[in-house]
Amino acid sequence: MKHGLFVLLFAAIFMLMEVEGNGCGCGYNYANKATDGPAPGARRLASYFKKRYGGRTEIYNNRPVRGGKNLSLHAEGRAVDIYLAGNNGRRAFDHAVSIACAHGIQEVIFNRRIWTANGGEHHYSGSNPHTDHVHIGLNRCGARNFGA
Ligand SMILES: *[C@@H]1O[C@H](CO)[C@@H](O)[C@H](O)[C@H]1NC(C)=O
Ligand SMILES: [Zn+2]
Repeated sequence: MKHGLFVLLFAAIFMLMEVEGNGCGCGYNYANKATDGPAPGARRLASYFKKRYGGRTEIYNNRPVRGGKNLSLHAEGRAVDIYLAGNNGRRAFDHAVSIACAHGIQEVIFNRRIWTANGGEHHYSGSNPHTDHVHIGLNRCGARNFGA
């Protein structure tokens, strides 16, 4: 009986830890309909990273994924490209991954590497190698709430 209570207590603490941050998690939402500009969370994410790592940033672009057919997250204004290279780019990549699941970041790409919650970090085989920019994609919740 006592044992059961402790299990419940730990389960509750664990659930609280999972929703810390803005509660958006890092689940993946594919883009399906272009919007007309950058999402508010994406603008705040761009300034957050620019302040720490520098680099020009780009958000909105109504286009398919390069070399693919699906709509790009940029077409929903939910992805930020930060023009950084080398160690600085890698630091920004690691930083984004470390806060991803607390803040609604669903994918991070740099230098032929991609991170998603489901796949972890692994080789990125898309046609654009992302050697001159870090791509950070938000899920729909993160696109509204990042940095709010
Ligand atoms: C394209 O989008 C669909 C969902 O709309 C998804 O299931 C599929 O995996 C996507 N393809 C690629 C190459 O990402
Ligand atoms: Zn991008």
